[in-house]
Order: sequence, then C-alpha cells, then structure tokens
Amino acid sequence: MKALLLAGGTGSRLFPVTLGVSKQLLPVYDKPMVYYPLSVLLLAGIREVLVISTPEDIEQYERLLGDGSQWGITLLYKVQERPNGLAAAFILGEAFVGSDPVCLILGDNIFYGLDFSTQLEAVVERTRLGSKATIFGFTVKDPQRYGVIEYDTEGEVISIEEKPEYPKSQQAVVGLYFYPNEVVAIAKGIQPSARGELEITAVNQAFLERQQLQVENLGRGFAWLDTGTHESLLEASQFIETVEKRQGLKIGCLEEVAYQKGFITKEQLVQQAKKLEGTPYGDYLLARYA
Ligand code: DAU
Repeated sequence: MKALLLAGGTGSRLFPVTLGVSKQLLPVYDKPMVYYPLSVLLLAGIREVLVISTPEDIEQYERLLGDGSQWGITLLYKVQERPNGLAAAFILGEAFVGSDPVCLILGDNIFYGLDFSTQLEAVVERTRLGSKATIFGFTVKDPQRYGVIEYDTEGEVISIEEKPEYPKSQQAVVGLYFYPNEVVAIAKGIQPSARGELEITAVNQAFLERQQLQVENLGRGFAWLDTGTHESLLEASQFIETVEKRQGLKIGCLEEVAYQKGFITKEQLVQQAKKLEGTPYGDYLLARYA
C-alpha cells in the first residue's frame, strides 16, 4: 500500500497566517501539523509516501521531513501546480502508485482514538486483498462544511454530497481514504465540479455506485479535529496539550511510532532524539527510550 499526503492548497481561510507559510506546517501545540497525518500513515503500517504540495512550499516539506529514513520509511515529493482538487492527487501520483492500492490523507486532518492502529491495519489488509474502497464517517455539528454521507432507514449509504446546503445527516467524511488501484482510472474519468475542482466526493460516489464503498464509523470516543479556522486550530492545539500533559505521552511523535512499529531500532530513535535534546520533544524521547 502506497500513500499520498496532500499538503498543498492556499490555506486562504487562515489568511494572513498562511500568506507566508504553508498551512500544514503551522504548529499544532508542539509539532508541525503534518506530523499528525504522517503518524497515522505509520500507524497503518504504510512506508511509502508521496508528499504533494505547492511549487512554493514543497522545499520546506523536504527540509522538514527529508527522505523519511529517520523513521524507516520512504518519502518522495511532488508539486501540484495549482489546487485543482483532492482527487488530482491520484493523477499526480500515478507513476508513484504503480499497480498498488493507495491511501490518501489530508495534511491538515488530526485523528486521535483508541485502537485506531488496529482498525487501520485491518482496513489496509482488506483494501490490499479486495476491491472495496473505505472511507470514514464522523458526527459533526456543522456537516455543511464537509463531504456528507446520506443513509437510508436500514443504515445503508445512499449518497455522498460535497458541502451540501441542506445536509442529509450529520456524518462528515474525514480526510482519510483507502482505495484499490482502480482509483487512478476513476480519478482520471471525473469532471471538475462547479468550483473547478476534481472532488474526492465524486470518486467516492463512483465507488458507491459500483457497490465498492465501505463506510466505517469513527464513534464518540474518537477525536477528529478540525484545523480550518483560527478558532479550531487553537482548539486542536489545546486538545493535544491537554491529553499530552495529562498522560505524559505524546500524540503524533513520529520517532516513537516508527520504533513501536518496528521501522527503526531503539538506537536509531535515540540518535534522532539527541538532535532535539533540550526541547520538550527530544527530552520526552530521551527520557523514555535512552
Ligand atoms: O477534511 C475533510 C474534508 O476535506 C472532506 O469532508 C471533504 O469531502 C473534502 O472535500 C475536503 O474538504 P475541504 O473543504 O477541507 O477541502 P480543502 O479544499 O480545504 O482541502 C483539504 C486539504 O487538502 C487542505 O489541507 C489543502 C489540501 N489541498 C486542497 C486542494 C483543493 C491540496 O493539497 N490540493 C488541492 O488541490
């Protein structure tokens, strides 16, 4: 399984904060935002990732994340010339994806919950062996801001609509998607929406129409955090701070996840941590593993 990590876009809702810096590089409490979705990919056991960003920002991602070897993974980079939609990622990433199944994750999505790793590994395995795509639903109070899932009375999914004025449920589609390799051909076949974007919702709708879409619910005990507004970005930082302080455990700590997954040795972890000695992040790793 390969993964595409989308870290482009204009971040216009956060102007002027994002006029000079890519949104997904902004801090969420004690680490850059992109660490959180990248840690989700590691938890899923995915070790080959294509990071996609704008011509202006791609170098900063390379500077921050490098070739991934420090976490036992391979990171490659691709420029998206203009923000023409989430589904464009499959076209940009076609050669990288090759004949593999693929996961798409949005660089501004933060996930936190019990047993997420186990759930992700099961989805990766199912996607690898079968022909179904998997998306995740999460209950929100403002569904009109997202892709929204419509269910019939039996609980079967009937449709997925992008930012509907009148949402048919409160279930939003989160920014984490798993697809069989067919997704590349499907993405190539969709037409731009009224706002001129290749919508991920059109891709999901295509899988639904072929009866190849599985929707998993992320329940009440789960946190899917928004970073789309100044307020929600601050709240995401406060959430991470609260949980990390209370437990003394870090969320989205890439070296720790990589070590727990067996991608790097303890010695490699300590070597990385020493570079950050004297910071809360580095000292956390050294206190636990050195
Ligand atoms: O966050 C989940 C939602 O993400 C889903 O519920 C929606 O169905 C999906 O369309 C998407 O909605 P957003 O309004 O959040 O999409 P946005 O345009 O903000 O882009 C999401 C991220 O992807 C953002 O970090 C910027 C990046 N991006 C976006 C576009 C359009 C790119 O890297 N390239 C792009 O072309």
